[in-house]
Amino acid sequence: MKVAPSILAADFARLAESVSAVANADWIHVDVMDGHFVPNITMGPDVVAALRRETHLPLDVHLMVEEPIRYVEAFAKAGADRLTVHVEACRHVHSTLQAIRTCGVRAGIAYNPATSVSGIEYILHMVDLVLVMTVNPGFGGQSFLSETLPKVSEVAGLRESRQHEFEVQVDGGITLETIGLVAEAGASVVVAGTAVFKASNPQKAIEELRKGMSAKE
Ligand code: DX5
Ligand code: ZN
Repeated sequence: MKVAPSILAADFARLAESVSAVANADWIHVDVMDGHFVPNITMGPDVVAALRRETHLPLDVHLMVEEPIRYVEAFAKAGADRLTVHVEACRHVHSTLQAIRTCGVRAGIAYNPATSVSGIEYILHMVDLVLVMTVNPGFGGQSFLSETLPKVSEVAGLRESRQHEFEVQVDGGITLETIGLVAEAGASVVVAGTAVFKASNPQKAIEELRKGMSAKE
């Protein structure tokens, strides 16, 4: 069970200190937003390159951008270890995943709360991660949508029945109150922004989330 703090909730003027403050994390989650696919605008490949110089932790880059295939190479060169794209944002999902893998980066596919995972069986062999959004993408600090839980179980069930090894990631509204629910549903990686970076002790917050997950495993 892994915890990936989202630096969206960190102090953008102090990103270097923020990543050192979560040195016990498994991955660093980087939320890239383009103002088109989602209303908010955040950061691009230069910020990923800057983070790469500051941490050895894997950089898990979540692309909330239209036609992300246009930026795959730039983020790969910047040092992303994982690139996750939204099924709703890609005209050609298969080619986009292929492009990510060609760059030697692990590929993830993300689903918004209202998107069903139909058709997923045709791309499962190409993904290292399936991200089930547990809020609508665009902003940190939103409330967890419990109606997404059956989808987490569905994806975890598929992994089991097809004997795949991809991670089942959840993102949005993860707190000590909701982590048990996603762990029980079969999530293997949780993204947490507010719950980690707004805590007085981010390292302790990560440990507590881990405890909350393993209690339900
Ligand atoms: C939402 C982002 C999330 C967000 C999570 O669009 O993809 O990664 O930062 O933030 P919290 O944990 O505060 O809901
Ligand atoms: Zn995210």
